[in-house]
Amino acid sequence: MAWIRRNRFDRRPTAPDACPAPTGTGDQWATPPTLFEALDREFGPFVLDAAALPGNAKCARFWTPAENGLAQPWGPGPTWCNPPYSDPGPWCRKAVAEARAGNLSVLLLKSDTGTTWFQEDIAGQAEVIFLCPRVRFVGAPNQAPWPNLVAVYRPGLDLPLSPWRCWNWKEDRP
Ligand SMILES: C[S@@+](CC[C@H](N)C(=O)[O-])C[C@H]1O[C@@H](n2cnc3c(N)ncnc32)[C@H](O)[C@@H]1O
Repeated sequence: MAWIRRNRFDRRPTAPDACPAPTGTGDQWATPPTLFEALDREFGPFVLDAAALPGNAKCARFWTPAENGLAQPWGPGPTWCNPPYSDPGPWCRKAVAEARAGNLSVLLLKSDTGTTWFQEDIAGQAEVIFLCPRVRFVGAPNQAPWPNLVAVYRPGLDLPLSPWRCWNWKEDRP
């Protein structure tokens, strides 16, 4: 079908961020412990938090902005990453590269399916879990103003038969 061919082989630039937020919004919001623990049970135990500060790191081993988690090795994983919301694309690209190298990583991201980073570095590359209800991050005044998803990048970019699903993270296992 024409639209599939266009999606796969003729990727046009899409909006860099279809759900814009004020610059820096969410960059320091931390993952709620219950959400992290459920994902840690399912895909972990995570041994590296790739984007963190000493006060919000989810693992004993973590990379900080000074070290630049994008420029550091993530393996051997599994790796956890809730990257800064203002620029998730490079983190998705890094997770693809790490999966090619055999490392599993799980990223918590804004669900922004019209962006280049979603269409090129999540769709077709990672298992996608759409979260419901909206997440209230630690340090945020309210529930996030956008929906979130979890992207699971498996070694070899090996996708399950059903590459996306929904998850009520307050009630069920992922
Ligand atoms: C959304 S917070 C996530 C905090 C925490 N790791 C968690 O999962 O709850 C993103 C964190 O990434 C850090 N960060 C930003 N740029 C980074 C970089 N290049 N390398 C490593 N960490 C970075 C920020 O300082 C911030 O603490």
